[in-house]
Amino acid sequence: MLRSVIAGCGGYLPERCVPNAALAAEFGIETSDEWIVERTGIRQRHIAAPGETASSMGAAAARQALERAGIEPGQVDAIIVATATPDSAFPATAVRIQQHLGITQGFAFDIAAACTGFVYALGIADALLKTGQARCALVIGTEVFSRILDWTDRGTCVLFGDGAGAVVLTAEQGTDRGILSTHLHSDGRHGDILLVDGGAGSTGGPGLLRMAGKEVFRHAVSKLASVVDEALAANGLNHADLRWLVPHQANLRIIEAMGKKLNLPRERVVVTVDRHANTSAASIPLALADVAGRGLIERGDLMALEGIGGGLTWGACLLRF
Ligand code: ACO
Repeated sequence: MLRSVIAGCGGYLPERCVPNAALAAEFGIETSDEWIVERTGIRQRHIAAPGETASSMGAAAARQALERAGIEPGQVDAIIVATATPDSAFPATAVRIQQHLGITQGFAFDIAAACTGFVYALGIADALLKTGQARCALVIGTEVFSRILDWTDRGTCVLFGDGAGAVVLTAEQGTDRGILSTHLHSDGRHGDILLVDGGAGSTGGPGLLRMAGKEVFRHAVSKLASVVDEALAANGLNHADLRWLVPHQANLRIIEAMGKKLNLPRERVVVTVDRHANTSAASIPLALADVAGRGLIERGDLMALEGIGGGLTWGACLLRF
């Protein structure tokens, strides 16, 4: 059986790191470290420099993933980028990254599923590899949310950061490692609780992020718990089989609640939200690169990747590392 196996993970964070305590002085926000840490677990975020874009950061993460996989850019034949903050409407950020990496073969495209984007992109890449339409795919989440935040809205601007994460997926025959299944959902009835209020469909301006935090929180807790159970059940597995949870990094309280529901010890639930804040589609691959880069995951470990975001969209991917 053909399986999509993670051959390498990479991440990139902009150099500028802004701790909670600096938000007042640097951005004029009336807030406190205590308020942010207590409600979200966030202690700092990275903010892109003026010249940095989703494609430049995505390319940096992809380079690290390729290097760790020992794979040359010339072997990549598909690039899928999840982003809500593309360099421009077109060309796709994925094609820009293809150019940054000097790749001229294969194909590249973006997908839009907000914070669930990386899980969606993994599912699409897995389908392409399993059907033989590609043999080696770069799957990237990359975001410059600092550019779509309303810096006068302290209820949202303190929650997000910039960054990129990437994985290299290769098609392998006769292995029990790799992606077991991906489970995707969306429900447009909840579109207005988390959105960017701009784009060609509205005023024509780029728009800024708006969020009804309490409602999003409620949906996140119920939908994330059920989608991981759905993924385990689809593979005849249960909580006891799971070694790692790599959740979307939005809020430590949501992450801890998920870990408890799945009976996972704290050290098996990957947490980077304290250091990265919420980097939307980049948060899962950044968290994966962080824990894999520290050599903590063993080959064959069963892990669930899960996310929820604007749409609403949500989903989970179950894989053996
Ligand atoms: N600093 C200090 N005070 C603040 C801040 C701030 N940064 N932001 C809001 N407040 C104040 C409010 O003005 C309000 O004051 P008031 O009671 O005097 O009016 C008070 O704090 C409470 O505000 P709430 O918005 O009700 O705070 P809540 O406890 O709901 O926490 C939060 C807000 C952290 C956003 C929470 O709702 C949450 O985590 N929601 C989930 C968000 C999430 O996970 N989103 C991501 C999923 S999808 C994605 O990643 C895009």
